[in-house]
Amino acid sequence: MLTQRQLFLQHNAQTSPEPLMLEFVRAKGVYIYDSSDKKHLDLIAGIGVSNVGHCHPAVVKAIQQQAETYMHLMVYGEYIQAPQVNFAKALADILPESLSCTYFLNSGTEAVEGAMKLAKRYTGRQGFIACKNAYHGSTHGAESLMESDFYSSGYGPFLPNVSFIEHNNIADLKKITTDIAAVFIEPIQGEAGIRVADVAYMQALRAKCDETKTLLIFDEIQSGFGRSGKMFAFEHYNITPDVLLLAKGIGGGMPIGAFISSLQIMSVLSHTPILGHMTTFGGHPVCCAAGLATLRTLIDDKIVDEVEEKGQLFKQLLIHPAIKEIRGKGLMLAVAFENFEINKKIIDACILDGVLSDWFLHCSNSMRIAPPLIITKTEIEDACAIILKNINLVVEKKDQSKKTVA
Ligand SMILES: Cc1ncc(COP(=O)(O)O)c(C=O)c1O
Repeated sequence: MLTQRQLFLQHNAQTSPEPLMLEFVRAKGVYIYDSSDKKHLDLIAGIGVSNVGHCHPAVVKAIQQQAETYMHLMVYGEYIQAPQVNFAKALADILPESLSCTYFLNSGTEAVEGAMKLAKRYTGRQGFIACKNAYHGSTHGAESLMESDFYSSGYGPFLPNVSFIEHNNIADLKKITTDIAAVFIEPIQGEAGIRVADVAYMQALRAKCDETKTLLIFDEIQSGFGRSGKMFAFEHYNITPDVLLLAKGIGGGMPIGAFISSLQIMSVLSHTPILGHMTTFGGHPVCCAAGLATLRTLIDDKIVDEVEEKGQLFKQLLIHPAIKEIRGKGLMLAVAFENFEINKKIIDACILDGVLSDWFLHCSNSMRIAPPLIITKTEIEDACAIILKNINLVVEKKDQSKKTVA
């Protein structure tokens, strides 16, 4: 009989020649368990997804209850479905008034696509500006917003009329003109290796978009729902985007994405033409129920309040000459080493030791630290002890091989 491993390689389309191929059978809280019941501490939360931990009881209960009540009834937007309405209202309750209207989709990249169409319709313009080293998703529109030609090579052409600015460079903001429908930006760039924009930059960006009547669109698909130490990263900047993009963590482990704006901006999607933006499964009742349970858990358990402190603990504990820098806010961190080779060796050794991490799409010398936000201080101490132990092992081996060569 073929093993799961063999079946995976034969029947599941692959995204790289060397998938991690770790085989897990269940997950709970901050741990994922393999078939021998060995537990692995998840320091990446499925790439910024499991903010309230794996299989949080409140989320599981909401999923079960909704699955028993109804699942798919109709394409998005036609029927009044309580889980969609309740989740949208709960989001509106914690967001500024100008972000009170939500369009639900299934993923982050779909949120980007929806927002691109919204910006074109609302402004009547066709140009977009995005940041160098951004990551916005893998569909054609989202790929158009990414300058990096490594991952997109062979898949073009992409959309015209997209220009790129350097993240956190005030001088570059002059490229935002009245031809530009929208600027897409991650306030904290994720796949660039966790690059936090300065307050002065973000405020200048807001001012420039106001001046040119360009929509300012924040991609908080990775930074949203508490990961940066605030419920939304834009709260660090004392400004509000015109459109907010969410996905990943908002479903508590279920697939859901959203773009959120004002009722006035969103209203353009409902006419001339009608049905100009549609989705069958967007805002799936089970995913919305999971999303609402996730949001309530974050709020009721005051989970976000402790995120910054937990991030600081990682920064305090991870001190080693081989660590060049730790960047980030809250539990959205990047630990930088000299190069990819060292980083990869440390990550591999940590994985063998039961601590799961990886590196970033556009920053291969840095280790990702983005655990479920419910991680405890003891678990952080355990994780850091294992990381430091493996840094020492990797660095010692490197020094030994240098001596042998000499
Ligand atoms: C900032 C950001 N935007 C968009 C996306 C795309 O989201 P999805 O993979 O759900 O399409 C990602 C995914 O990593 C992301 O990090």
